[in-house]
Amino acid sequence: MRKPLIAGNWKLNNNIAESVGLATAILDNLGCKNDVDIVIAPVFTAISAVAKVCTGSNIKIAGQNCHCIDAGAFTGEVSAPMLADAGCNYVILGHSERRQLFGETDCFINAKCYSALQAGLIPILCVGETEDERDKGEVFDVITRQITLALNEISQQQVEQMVIAYEPIWAIGTGKTATSNEAAEVHSFIRGVLSGLYSEQTANSIRIVYGGSVKPNNIAELMVEDDIDGALVGGASLKAADFSAIVNFPKSLKVAPR
Ligand code: PGA
Repeated sequence: MRKPLIAGNWKLNNNIAESVGLATAILDNLGCKNDVDIVIAPVFTAISAVAKVCTGSNIKIAGQNCHCIDAGAFTGEVSAPMLADAGCNYVILGHSERRQLFGETDCFINAKCYSALQAGLIPILCVGETEDERDKGEVFDVITRQITLALNEISQQQVEQMVIAYEPIWAIGTGKTATSNEAAEVHSFIRGVLSGLYSEQTANSIRIVYGGSVKPNNIAELMVEDDIDGALVGGASLKAADFSAIVNFPKSLKVAPR
């Protein structure tokens, strides 16, 4: 059984004081919860302060991105070992906003995954199709390409540490969620791709979470699907009450020590 994981992607929001305030409120609500892995991803400048607040708790910290090289002449970048040093356990990689707004390629994302794993971070690798690609029936081709290229040269032992987030781009920040059937179909397809690249056992051990307008009122229907192991939450993770309600999705639907 895979332990559910709910991650909050705060994107470019909250200064240090606001981030610490939000983390503290989440900690107050969820500090005792241990049947779900909980992750929050503040902006880089707030990571250290938020990590300090969450030290020793069940709430882990993620970077929202990292560079693929540890150090050097790369103005404006932050590396995986630096994120680990600041208190991160996870890093979100290949988010569609990085791909679309900052031109990140599958090959670049692959190098970042490798670097994150070397630094002891758990990559949350995001994949997903645009609305146009879905309309043209290209979902499975896009997902196959993104997964295969991002995992190039990543070993079986390494990939088993990773989390994959299926985030259809048309559902991000739009209020349009994929139906649980649409999401489950792609999650199951991703497991098939992983099974082909590695083994069925490896495919079954990797957590695949859904992202795209996840809210307190739709998390339960998503989590009921066997292949959906959690959520990557954007907008709703900025309110402690909403994020906590998502993490507290009806327990009877999935209870699973990893
Ligand atoms: P959203 O964002 O929940 O606001 O749609 C999800 C994401 O970008 O990870």
